[in-house]
Amino acid sequence: MCDGHFSCRYSISAFSQLQKMGIRHPRPAPFIGNVLLFQKGFWEGANQILKMYGPISGYYMGRRPMVLLSDPEAVKQVLQKDFSNFTNRLKMNLVTKPMSDSLLCLRDQQWKRVRSVLTPSFSAARMKEMCPLIHQGCDVLLSNLQTFADSGESCNVQRSYACYTMDIVASVAFGTNVDSQKDPDHPMVQNSKKFLELFTPLKPLVLLTLAFPSIMVPIARRLPNRNRDKINDFFRKIMKDMMDQRDQQPSGERRRDFLQLLLDARTTASNVSVEHFDIVNQADLAAPVKEEPRKETTKTLSEDEILGQAFIFLIAGYETTSSLLAFTTYLLATHPESQERLLREVDEFSENHDGADYNTVHHLPYMDLVISESLRMYPPAFRCVPVCGVMRITPLTTGAARVLFPSLLWSTQVWILLFLRRMHYKDQLMLATHTLFAREAAADCTVMGCKIPAGTVLEIPIGCMQNDPRYWEEPERFRPERFTAEEKQKRHPFLYLPFGAGPRSCIGMRLAILEAKITLYRILRKFRFETCPHTQIPLQVTAVSTLRPKDGVYVRVVAR
Ligand code: HEM
Repeated sequence: MCDGHFSCRYSISAFSQLQKMGIRHPRPAPFIGNVLLFQKGFWEGANQILKMYGPISGYYMGRRPMVLLSDPEAVKQVLQKDFSNFTNRLKMNLVTKPMSDSLLCLRDQQWKRVRSVLTPSFSAARMKEMCPLIHQGCDVLLSNLQTFADSGESCNVQRSYACYTMDIVASVAFGTNVDSQKDPDHPMVQNSKKFLELFTPLKPLVLLTLAFPSIMVPIARRLPNRNRDKINDFFRKIMKDMMDQRDQQPSGERRRDFLQLLLDARTTASNVSVEHFDIVNQADLAAPVKEEPRKETTKTLSEDEILGQAFIFLIAGYETTSSLLAFTTYLLATHPESQERLLREVDEFSENHDGADYNTVHHLPYMDLVISESLRMYPPAFRCVPVCGVMRITPLTTGAARVLFPSLLWSTQVWILLFLRRMHYKDQLMLATHTLFAREAAADCTVMGCKIPAGTVLEIPIGCMQNDPRYWEEPERFRPERFTAEEKQKRHPFLYLPFGAGPRSCIGMRLAILEAKITLYRILRKFRFETCPHTQIPLQVTAVSTLRPKDGVYVRVVAR
């Protein structure tokens, strides 16, 4: 009786926090809060909550209260004006090295130091140095697309783009040349894929962590994981070999890639202060950017930190960039009049320029509008990093739960099993607890009149904001003209945030846009996209780790 009372109290004891802040929310279920609302993905779940409870509303992720914020002025307060109180993302309890050393996860002073060291590596001058590597990757992509064009068959371009961005990661971050479309068994490709899969496994552990965080987090952190250790060892060895190899080379002969920039940062780096971190705000997507003056200093990055930053490309840059290309291809194939206009622009550009690089891509203004609109409709990094990922519920999971829960009170056990069974029928549930686009309040504060205590996590659902009919006329329509300078001026700038905002915004934005523009330019010089019977219209998306096409993007690649 006493045990039952305790278990009952525990299951709901966290659920008064949002109410105390004055924030409305859907009714949470014992232990798991509102996670079931997100069965169809976070986009739909968040939309539902915002519609019912307004621009500041909340939900419980397990026992943790989460505040959803969709008012542009309040978003500006959190991301930019009061940045010093919102420096950190949600703490990632289950993340281990080297991922925990990546900029994405770092906190407070360590984040500031590493971001300061890394910012110059993403400067305009460094981006110029990446252009030859992007072109090398494009050569391989084009030859693969040529095969599809020659066959006349429809192809899944999402897959080709995934291979292409994987090749870029291998080349730019790990100094290794691969063609993952033709050589999918290359150890670099295999280990990168396994690394990404680490974050979407079957994990009853995640559910338990949500329900019993104070017990499960310390246990989960200590559990051995041989698979993860093997993958980490592979990358550590690659990195060590590369470091030794490059240290022995004369500096003039070293390959100019991101890895080399990181290795250089071991000993010297430019000193960039926090007010210069905001790449997104400094850079209009179409215009080249002024260089920050370099001031040599002696900050260092440890070997673990270097490895952590090399993983940034895999974690933050690989799938986001390939999804951007896939969504844009779908939009062009289904809007032939926009594609024609872009093809004309590409042809004119090629008559007047030797090729596309950092200095010239801003002479493709319509391409800029197309990419901006694609990022509005389908923001790839719309919510979360793939840290916990999807939990697939199978008989194995339910069996594991029986083994894992024996010490719990029978009523609790029955309840959890019923819950798992329900999820079994629903097939899968997203349980990503580590959101990319979220900030944790360091001290008590007030947002939109609500009292937010220190430690609360505020989340910005950009996917919902960028498709809200109150702010965007006919948001479901592809209309690149929304992004002309004149139209942009009419909107609150914080309604469109595909790369975030403020000092913690996407450090890779310039690189992502550059890569997307060069790639589209190179493709459209040779090919056009057409729909085919396999093209899924309207396109189904999945909002699991990043936002991406659910079943691929099938189009016909036609030689021009
Ligand atoms: C289309 C491609 C991409 C999109 C849409 C995208 C979007 C985003 C977004 C929304 C954030 C969170 C911003 C915030 O919290 O305010 C972010 C953070 C980040 N992105 Fe990107 N990103 C892309 C490509 C890349 C690439 C290519 C890289 C690196 C090579 C990269 C590296 C990062 C890093 C390191 C962070 C965390 C920054 C920090 O915490 O200081 N991203 N990105």
